[in-house]
Amino acid sequence: MEWLQCINCPERYDALSIRYTCDCGGLLSVERDTIMDRNSFDDRRTSRAPIDQSGVWRFREGVVNLDRVITHPEGSTRLYERNGLFYKHEGENPTGSFKDRGMTVAVTQAVRVGARAVACASTGNTSASLAAYAAQAGLRAIVFVPAGKVASGKLAQTLAYGATCLQVRGDFDAAMRLVRDACDKLGIYLVNSINPFRIEGQKTIIWELLQDLRWESPDWIVVPAGNLGNTSAFGKALREAHANGWITKMPRLASIQASGANPFFLSYEERFATRHRVQAETIASAIRIGDPVSYDKAVDAIRVTNGIVEQVSDEEIMAAKREIDGMGIGCEPASAATLAGVKKLKAAGIMKDDEQIVCVLTGNILKDPEANMRMENVVEIDATLEAVEKVL
Ligand code: F0G
Repeated sequence: MEWLQCINCPERYDALSIRYTCDCGGLLSVERDTIMDRNSFDDRRTSRAPIDQSGVWRFREGVVNLDRVITHPEGSTRLYERNGLFYKHEGENPTGSFKDRGMTVAVTQAVRVGARAVACASTGNTSASLAAYAAQAGLRAIVFVPAGKVASGKLAQTLAYGATCLQVRGDFDAAMRLVRDACDKLGIYLVNSINPFRIEGQKTIIWELLQDLRWESPDWIVVPAGNLGNTSAFGKALREAHANGWITKMPRLASIQASGANPFFLSYEERFATRHRVQAETIASAIRIGDPVSYDKAVDAIRVTNGIVEQVSDEEIMAAKREIDGMGIGCEPASAATLAGVKKLKAAGIMKDDEQIVCVLTGNILKDPEANMRMENVVEIDATLEAVEKVL
């Protein structure tokens, strides 16, 4: 059985309590005392049952052990190898981002605690995922987004799935503060990654990756970092995989921020002596976040994995995106921060050519259509063969 554990003090709460932080203000973590065997996870890869086909619920003993879940199913994404690097493409999830892995668990938990409405603040992917899973569960969905700052593919999905969309005049950080307040006062269930059940689902990105690699750890796992839910989830996943004896070597985490939205990088540079907050600006709108909520858990993730934090410019992000798109894989800008980070870290000699490196691509190429319109590839012509020949 699971319980909610404060990460800063000994306090524990029941797994069915509706709370996201401890009375002391610390973040909460879902903990359990069972030791899990990885063999059953491997056996389920050939099962036809939807719960086993889900790349989240296949690991249910380490997520939340329930039989009735709200699942698409999700996960079971591909691992690509291109030019000596590996890419785990989480944009292949049902709504096109890794958020589905956390959302299937958070919405399952919402139903379990009897919630009628669910809410989140979002730069677009969480809101699209929430809208889809809430629709499936028959719950009301309310999303708080920074007005004018959400990529059109994400907004379109959110609206199509039927969520009520509150466009907040302010940035993501303002929307985040507002949704926390609104959920507390209005009795709405909050499913941002401050909700510890989201983290439990997102751990399975790592567990499935390790399974893809036959439980042989890579040297590095590279992830874009915004609100720091994924960085936190990856650290917890690796800590638990190691504690359960599924892996013997601890991979190193590399969290990559956009240089215009780099509070975690600034703290890392000071060995986490101070928590920074910034006014965020970047072309990668998914990670346009200046005050990441899961900061404390993410610091722990970097420490337990001997990890690092790097920053990359918008130009580096877009150059890396072109490369990933040019391999026929494709991703949204935030996801390309991974490859941009790898290039920078290799140039600095921190990552080596003979090391196995896995980039986690967090969102699908169609999420941000505006970022894809490479108009230099478009030529308008008259409807004649002569005109075609002239261009070619
Ligand atoms: N990549 C994509 C495509 C994202 O949508 C996000 C976060 C991240 C990376 C960063 O992950 O926040 O766990 O550090 N998107 C959130 C949202 C904020 O609302 O969709 P993180």
